[in-house]
Amino acid sequence: MQAVVQYGTGGPEVLKVEERPTPRRQTGEVLIRVEAIAVPFYETQLRSGLLPASSEPTVFGHEAAGIVIEADDETLHGRRVVTMSFTGGAYAEVVAASQYTLVPDGITPEQAVAAAVPASVALALMKTADIEAGESVLVEAASGAIGGYLVRLAERSGARVVTTAGNGSADIDHNDPDWRQQVPEGIHVIFESIGGPRAAELTAKLAPHGRILAYGMLSGEFPAFPVAGLIARGITLIGFGGPDAYGKRVAAARAEALDLVADGTLTPVIDRTYPLADVAAAHARVESRAGVGKVVLVP
Ligand SMILES: NC(=O)c1ccc[n+]([C@@H]2O[C@H](COP(=O)([O-])OP(=O)(O)OC[C@H]3O[C@@H](n4cnc5c(N)ncnc54)[C@H](OP(=O)(O)O)[C@@H]3O)[C@@H](O)[C@H]2O)c1
Repeated sequence: MQAVVQYGTGGPEVLKVEERPTPRRQTGEVLIRVEAIAVPFYETQLRSGLLPASSEPTVFGHEAAGIVIEADDETLHGRRVVTMSFTGGAYAEVVAASQYTLVPDGITPEQAVAAAVPASVALALMKTADIEAGESVLVEAASGAIGGYLVRLAERSGARVVTTAGNGSADIDHNDPDWRQQVPEGIHVIFESIGGPRAAELTAKLAPHGRILAYGMLSGEFPAFPVAGLIARGITLIGFGGPDAYGKRVAAARAEALDLVADGTLTPVIDRTYPLADVAAAHARVESRAGVGKVVLVP
């Protein structure tokens, strides 16, 4: 089968398209003929070495949708599923997966990968934030996949939402280095995904007993929040990640997130699709930040 193998870290050229043995499934796993693969932002950071990645040449990629071609349960044969792997292997024509979610009827494979992970992250973040109607919420990088779903879900919960983006589509332009000064005061919940040392400026914008959910580092740096500022204002800082958030709460939200796509509550946005052979162009597109919506590979 055709697959994309990562050779070390660096630019998009470290991803090579190769012929690889088709994986075999273990008992309990399904074998999936892949129809669509997501290219999320964090994968560009894994590829470049900003996030820790395998030093061995391995099939790259984490988020794929496709048709089940082998399973213990024969009723799964021919069903469309979406899978999220922590150990790679998704940039391929065939994937073996132990964890998968059935894709509701009417959702295309491209829509499934554009929604499955980011919409379930957004839903799990919303459940963790426990927002009440009338609260005000700051969504950073609302032009991104998770940010876009957060805006929709927060508005649905009756919150007043303030957004940032770099493409002119939001209330505040986060490419302005002083953008945090434009955030109105009295924010109850901040969904923090940009990070960096200046994230600390947001503490002063929170209402007393506000909460920060830190879940990303789009700037390449974790956010820095001095504890003194949090104590003085009674702020709750929640780090959202790791096995508990990602492995449990996000996975638990996946089927509900896909149902919200199926019923039209959430709308996946697709920027461009690329054939698997053009994986380098797909990564360059994500890094360029030129598009809006998910970049998708089609084997
Ligand atoms: N904690 C978890 O469980 C979890 C799970 C999945 C992902 N994440 C993290 O969540 C974040 C968002 O992921 P996503 O999949 O929604 O990404 P995405 O769809 O690729 O969107 C990223 C957006 O971030 C903006 N951006 C990129 N670089 C930036 C920078 N240096 N400063 C400010 N904004 C920047 C871009 O917006 P503009 O072009 O408009 O500037 C882009 O639209 C990532 O950091 C990812 O690693 C966390």
